[in-house]
This record gives sequence, structure tokens and C-alpha cells, in this order.
Amino acid sequence: MTISPDNTFRLVEDTSLAWTAPTLPLGPAFFGNRIIFGDNLPVLKALSEEYANSIQCVYLDPPYNTGNAIPLYPDGSDHHQWLEALKHRLELLWALLCEDGFLAIQIDDNEFARLYLLLADMMGEQNLKTICVKMAEPTGFKMVHVITQGNLPRLKEYIILVGKSGIRNLHPERIAKATWDPEYRWVVCQASRQAIRRLKAILANPDRTADDIQQADAICRPFSLEPVTTVCQREGRSHPTREWLAENAWRIVRTCSTSATAKKRADQKRATLPPQTGAFSVETVQRRLYIVTAHYNMHSAQPRMRLLFADDYLTLHPGDFWADIKTTSLGEEGGVTFIKGKKPEALLKRIIGMTTQPGDWVLDAYAGSGTTGAVAHKMGRQWMLIENGPQCNTHILPRLRAVIDGTDQTGASKHLNWKGGGGFRYFRLTPAA
Ligand SMILES: C[S@@+](CC[C@H](N)C(=O)[O-])C[C@H]1O[C@@H](n2cnc3c(N)ncnc32)[C@H](O)[C@@H]1O
Repeated sequence: MTISPDNTFRLVEDTSLAWTAPTLPLGPAFFGNRIIFGDNLPVLKALSEEYANSIQCVYLDPPYNTGNAIPLYPDGSDHHQWLEALKHRLELLWALLCEDGFLAIQIDDNEFARLYLLLADMMGEQNLKTICVKMAEPTGFKMVHVITQGNLPRLKEYIILVGKSGIRNLHPERIAKATWDPEYRWVVCQASRQAIRRLKAILANPDRTADDIQQADAICRPFSLEPVTTVCQREGRSHPTREWLAENAWRIVRTCSTSATAKKRADQKRATLPPQTGAFSVETVQRRLYIVTAHYNMHSAQPRMRLLFADDYLTLHPGDFWADIKTTSLGEEGGVTFIKGKKPEALLKRIIGMTTQPGDWVLDAYAGSGTTGAVAHKMGRQWMLIENGPQCNTHILPRLRAVIDGTDQTGASKHLNWKGGGGFRYFRLTPAA
């Protein structure tokens, strides 16, 4: 049981509604996920001590204050009231965030400007970044109506991203270009994503030092190249999909030949390296740094020795304008209908993926149909969902049960190769006796 510091509310666990998978692929930590039924203000107060500085990503998709009739939750109040209510929640959420954590709030034109100014005031404008997301298509009855009136249909929404320590260390997924060049068919094994990120930073830096080059060599030394299909099969997939290729582009390479001078430099350097070296760096006369495999044929005039990473050539950085996420036909995602509220799992996958690592905590205080929890779970993050409407029981519970059982194969399941596992606990906010 968790009690709010002012002792007015407590979170009472209902163990009859907890859910666990028969298998444990996510490890015991992933059975602590929480669904909390109640108003997020007292719930956040009740969580304030236990979870202070613990949450890596808070995603909020509050009612946008449109004044429109939305099934399942009210959405219209005075601007000032709406903002004040959010402000109290933001103060509590800020204290729950880790020092390097992120808050992402989705909003549309109705309250964007007022919310942005509030956030800039509370958290510092230098810690804010606005992402524009395409959330609709200019088709369908509603759009035609707007267009015939000579108005501009509204296609976009915003995500205001706030970094507690600023906007940095984000690692967004890459977007695959229309066609994949099949020459990119090798996976660099024996190197972490972080190490390869560091290697690429050294390659891109024209002012690199001798120490940097030594570091690059240390990163490449254990490299081994395996065919894409072999790695894919080892990870439980029959063949590489376009999404898998894009997600793994950071470690997928092709080989190509270099200039004769670069080869000569490589020949000289290779002669000084231990025989077990997998790859190493070669600096050209123009001070470009290449990574070359150590297993090239020295006697060939133009061996395919240089490694080119696929993400540099075949994928795009999403930047702050996200127009590639599919927003139509979402009705079936998660197996629950939540008209006008449900967000695409692909959107949550991008936000959670770029702000957290596996095992981190993700919290959604306006959980709706539970999209954030479903995606966080499939991505191996721990999660907490707070919802005060009946959808907590009618939508979130069945949706997350299906995720855990592995029967939900909609949304991000395919991309994440989701098969089931883990569990959650269920709590209810009740007044203290
Ligand atoms: C736009 S919906 C969120 C939809 C969600 N992102 C999804 O993908 O399903 C907003 C939700 O916030 C809930 N909500 C509004 N005020 C709340 C409060 N004070 N405490 C908890 N939940 C609240 C509403 O009931 C509604 O389900």
C-alpha cells in the first residue's frame, strides 16, 4: 500500500486483477509494472516519495481542451483552469523524473501556445524542443467539409519534449529510405550500439586527435562481420523486414574499395597489428578516417576493404518533423476501440525508444486505452499507467493482458518481435480512512 504524504489518499492493491505470463522472458523486474485507477493528481502525490527521481520518460496525452464531445472522457474547460490543473501535475511529475529524464507532452493547436509558455516558465525554454507530428490525412468526410469551406484542414499535432538536463543524448530510430541497397548485407558483431555511436562521432570529427584514433581502433579491433540473414535468424526471424533493416542500420555495413594510397596506408598499418584484429582505422591524406576490415586480400589491387555503415546512406534521421507515422486504420491496434484518443503504437515506440533504455521506467498519467504501457512493455521498459475513466478497466486491462500473453500481435508487436512475457499489478486510489 502507498500513502500520499498528506495522508489523504492511499493506493490499494487489488491482487485479483494482477496479471503475469507463464513464462518469464523479461525477468522479475518486469512484474512490478502498475496500472493505477484514479485521478492522477492524488495518485502522483501518493507516488512522490517512492518514485522520486526514478522515471526516465513521462509521456502525457491529456484532453486537448477542444470543447468537442469525446466519448469516454470530458474535454472542455476554461483555458486558465485547464492550464492550472496541468501545472500541478507537471510539478509532481518533474520531481519523479530522473536527472537525465524526459517529459513528452502531446497537444494540438487549442492549447499549444499557452502550454509551451507554461513549460518554458516552469522548466526553462532551453530545455524544450517542439516536434511537429502529422496526425491526420486530408481525406475523409470531416476534411472534405473543412476544405469546401475554404479552410485549411488540421493535419498536425505537437509533442513538446522537455529534457530535465536539456535536449541531448537522444537516440531516435532511423527512417528507412524507400529502397534498401542489398549491398548492405553484413552485420558488425562484437560491438555495442554505444561503441559504434562513439566510433561514428570520431569518424565525423575533422579535428580528431591521436587518442581518438586509438580509441577508434580499440572499438573496431573485435569486429566480426556476419551475413544479415544469419543474424536475423539467430534473433528469431525468418527474414529481415524493411523495419528490421532500418532499426539495425547502425550496425549493418557494406564493403567497398578505397584509393590506392589509402590501401597502401592500410597495408602498412595492418602489418603492425595483432593477428586477431577484426577491423582498424586508416587516415587518408585528406584526413578522412576510414574503417577497414583486417581480412582483405593484400595482393588484390582494389580489395573491398572499407566498411560503410548503412545508417549513413540508407536511412534518415526523423528530426523534429515526423510525417512518416501511419495514423489511419488504428482502430484495431491493441484490440480496443478508443475513438479520437488512441495514439499510434509507432509514435510511442519512437518516443520511448529515443528517450529510454531497456529496463527504464516510463509513466503515462493520462493513459486512455493504455498505448504507452503496451509499447513500453513490448520494448522491455518498466511502466506505470494512471487513468481515472472507466477505460482503465474496459480498455487498459484487456489490452495489457493480451500484450503479456503474447496474443496482441498488432501495432509494434511485429517490429519488436513481441512474443509475450512479464506482468503487471493493479492499484486503486482510495481515500485514507
Ligand atoms: C487523449 S486520452 C489518452 C489516450 C492515450 N494516449 C491512448 O493512446 O489511448 C486522455 C485520457 O486522460 C484521462 N484523464 C483525464 N484527466 C485525468 C485525470 N485527472 N487523471 C487520470 N486520467 C485522466 C481521460 O480519461 C482520457 O482517457
